[in-house]
Amino acid sequence: MNEPRETTGQPLWHGRFGEGPADELLAFTVSLPFDRRLAADDLTGSRAHVAMLARVGLLTDDEKGVIFAALNRVDEELHAGTFAFAPTDEDIHTAIERRVTEIAGSAGAKLHTGRSRNDQIALDLRLYLRREGRALAGRIHALQNILLQRAAEVVDVYVPGYTHLQRAQPVLLAHHLLAHFWAFTRDVDRVRDCLARADVSPLGAGALAGSSLPLDPASVAADLGFADVFENSLDAVSDRDFVAEAIFAATLTQVHLSRIGEEIVLWSTEEFGFIRLADAYATGSSMLPQKKNPDIAELARGKAGRLIGDLTGVLAMLKGLPLSYNRDLQEDKEPLFDAFDTCALSLAAISGLLATVEFVADRMTAAADSPLNSATDLAEHLVENGTPFREAHTVVGGLVRQSIERGVPLDELMVNDPRLGPEAVPLLEPGSAVRRRTTRGGAGPGPVAEQFDRAKDRLEHQRLWLAK
Ligand code: ARG
Repeated sequence: MNEPRETTGQPLWHGRFGEGPADELLAFTVSLPFDRRLAADDLTGSRAHVAMLARVGLLTDDEKGVIFAALNRVDEELHAGTFAFAPTDEDIHTAIERRVTEIAGSAGAKLHTGRSRNDQIALDLRLYLRREGRALAGRIHALQNILLQRAAEVVDVYVPGYTHLQRAQPVLLAHHLLAHFWAFTRDVDRVRDCLARADVSPLGAGALAGSSLPLDPASVAADLGFADVFENSLDAVSDRDFVAEAIFAATLTQVHLSRIGEEIVLWSTEEFGFIRLADAYATGSSMLPQKKNPDIAELARGKAGRLIGDLTGVLAMLKGLPLSYNRDLQEDKEPLFDAFDTCALSLAAISGLLATVEFVADRMTAAADSPLNSATDLAEHLVENGTPFREAHTVVGGLVRQSIERGVPLDELMVNDPRLGPEAVPLLEPGSAVRRRTTRGGAGPGPVAEQFDRAKDRLEHQRLWLAK
């Protein structure tokens, strides 16, 4: 099996051409370096295609057996690393068909009956996505598990909640972590949605118009486990909606990782001091001995730019294409692979970082306990006593201004203010503001406990889907 082999050295279309391809053409048009990772999908598609050709009588059972054996041998060679690629192997489809024909002779030459690389690549990509989409969802799910676990460990801890990156109202740290959890829940949903739309077999569309041969696209689709078969051959070979959608799902996931990354960067500064990174998930400086840097968080943030580039690149590539297949479509693969690979690496790295990060509870609560963070509670207290909210807002805003300008503690001003008085002072006690957030989905212990239950339900729901 390891013997050096002669290859034909001719492209598949040599019959129509008087001379061979120029080196520059081969160098420019080749996609093998990146589409060879579709080899297993290509073999899967070919096996289903050959089985169908035999079912409809376009191949004898003997021919089917010979081609299957050749496909298995190609599979082995690819796995063993002994598959010899020829200079004219433009893409993985060409390489496999050439080799099958070398092995299986005239039966092998029937492999491509009723098929084009146009429906073939559309199929391969859908098979890739089915596999890798689930894997990506599984990685998001794993990160969600970590967020939920870490949130469960810190149920008593609260942090300042921010708007405009200015302290606003205290929130439970668990609530903050679960906010990220829910964003990732939607990311998993988005992956699932786009997998459902991609669950359509394009095989049988041929180059663009179907076939005069008695092909049976529906049975191939069923054989390959697709939920549906294409309705329109032109659409089947030129649709890359599913690629754009999949990249979008990965990109938005990466944007969510980027936002967490930004918070990790901020929270790990000496100025915030809310978290300490584990040594294994931080980096040092080549020059500054004291440094401990959040490079994972920064790269998760930086790589979001790269995925946004992948997405916009594909959308721009698609926007001017007339029906049906155009070679531009070959440019769909690198962005898709890059987006999925990058997002998968980022998810693993951020998962490890979050699983091991230390939360510095006293720094968080000290920052959250600043009396000014309870201003909204003072206003709501006045509302409970019948003051219209706008008026209550003005009263408390005035006290806050005086407190800052005159350097007088807020509680002192409250005691002397007839509208608030000493009975409102306990509202400033540490932890009071967060305990008072009681409405559904709010930041206090009651609603957060309910939120945990719903989060666990969603995780379980996802787990069952991933296990299918
Ligand atoms: N490598 C090509 C792609 O990725 C496969 C289809 C080639 N089809 C063709 N008509 N040249 O799109």
